[in-house]
Amino acid sequence: MSDTTLIRGGTIVTAERESRGDVLIAGEKVVAVGEGLQSPAGAKVLDAGGAYVMPGGIDPHVHMELPFMGTVSVDDFLSGTACAAAGGTTMIIDFCIPAPQQSMLEAYRTWRERAKKATADYSFHMAVTWWGEKVFEEMGTLCREHGVNSFKHFMAYKNAIMVDDATLIASFERARDLGAICLVHAENGDLVFRMQHEIFERGIHGPEGHPLSRGPEVEGEAANRACQIAGVVGVPLYVVHTSCRQAMEAIARAKLAGHRVFGESLVQHLVIDDSVYRNTDWRSAAHHVMSPPFRAPEHQQALWGGLQGGTIEVIGTDHCTFRTEQKAAGKGDFRKIPNGTGGMEERMSVLWHHGVRTGRITPCEFVAATSANAARIFNIHPRKGTIAPGSDADIVVWDPKATRTLGVATHHSRNDFNIFEGMQVTGAAAVTLSRGTVLWQNGRLSPVEGRGRYIERPCFTDYARSQATRNTHFAPTPVQRQEFVP
Ligand code: URP
Ligand code: ZN
Ligand code: ZN
Repeated sequence: MSDTTLIRGGTIVTAERESRGDVLIAGEKVVAVGEGLQSPAGAKVLDAGGAYVMPGGIDPHVHMELPFMGTVSVDDFLSGTACAAAGGTTMIIDFCIPAPQQSMLEAYRTWRERAKKATADYSFHMAVTWWGEKVFEEMGTLCREHGVNSFKHFMAYKNAIMVDDATLIASFERARDLGAICLVHAENGDLVFRMQHEIFERGIHGPEGHPLSRGPEVEGEAANRACQIAGVVGVPLYVVHTSCRQAMEAIARAKLAGHRVFGESLVQHLVIDDSVYRNTDWRSAAHHVMSPPFRAPEHQQALWGGLQGGTIEVIGTDHCTFRTEQKAAGKGDFRKIPNGTGGMEERMSVLWHHGVRTGRITPCEFVAATSANAARIFNIHPRKGTIAPGSDADIVVWDPKATRTLGVATHHSRNDFNIFEGMQVTGAAAVTLSRGTVLWQNGRLSPVEGRGRYIERPCFTDYARSQATRNTHFAPTPVQRQEFVP
């Protein structure tokens, strides 16, 4: 049980500033931040000399025990939140995905039940997988009574959870009126379906067929469509797992046009390229099958540029792990390989190593991308995503000199494969606290099943909504009609 802890002598980093000082935690909350804080009698003291003290990471894109493509992803809310904590992440946002025609509230209750075992905090985006009056009503109930302010739309996975434009439009309008934000998985599902068939018929059956069937244009088209529709409707939009230049440019254009659009990329896409699909080891190539797929190196450069330039606000993982025996369902047919990779535990170290240590981003920008921006976008800031009096004491003491070799031998995921295998990184979580309780210290996890809490995320206010709809699409534009004079 946590009571009082003083984190002494670190460099405190938030998205706004770096400062030397101490952090005092009482119970689950930060109560003071400053230099030379006195340690109350009986307080536990954590020495953070030489370390950074940052908000615990928020990974706003994960899938725990997700039923998907005929199987269920192997990390559940306990193993998932535990391995997140080992990497410095203290909150996840999962996706509640109702089957087509299923009630959203019923699916929500199922996800709440599954998540009860979590050791750190969690929340849910709700997926819109079909449209009807019941969906319209239940979106309202979820927003008003259950703290769900974000609705996800899959533009791919045809004949499963994909939705068409009519559903996108109807759902976007409803979300706008509720003060919610929309999310999209942007790939043109009809095009993917057709390309998959064509490639398979050409005799390409292995994992190398996967990226061929969903090239960057397929993603760019859908991202652009979603951005434009959101702009016309006037709803804020968050484009998940942006993996290529084309999609990033669509987001950048929408931002420049004044639409409230946010970009997320995955840490995997920043550092891994499409050569993984040319690996003749079927197991390795299959373990990299995810959507969107890994891209040619030029796209990685574009994504780094997007992160540095503000087109991409958030780095998540889409952690959705399948073991080799599950991936094997697609032996002989790449279309049946369950899509997904892991990364929750590695995200912060990989971004620190390749982002901060290379000078691409600053420590403050690191905090913005790994926690603060997600907290702001999904309306839980400053409870989460910062270190300030009143905030939850979700904190990572970060050792910038610690080195780790990533891989199956050291990870805490249930997966039997690690796409970062052998990568050496410098910068790692020394201590991770979740609402004041230490979950990770000295290389050891101490997860407590069931101590994680569901975090409600209120809808945005009328003011935020008016900001969200600040695009000029419907603004009266004076039109000078030229009379035709022969
Ligand atoms: O391949 C992926 N990304 N699997 C998880 C489901 C999704 O599309 O986010
Ligand atoms: Zn997706
Ligand atoms: Zn996902």
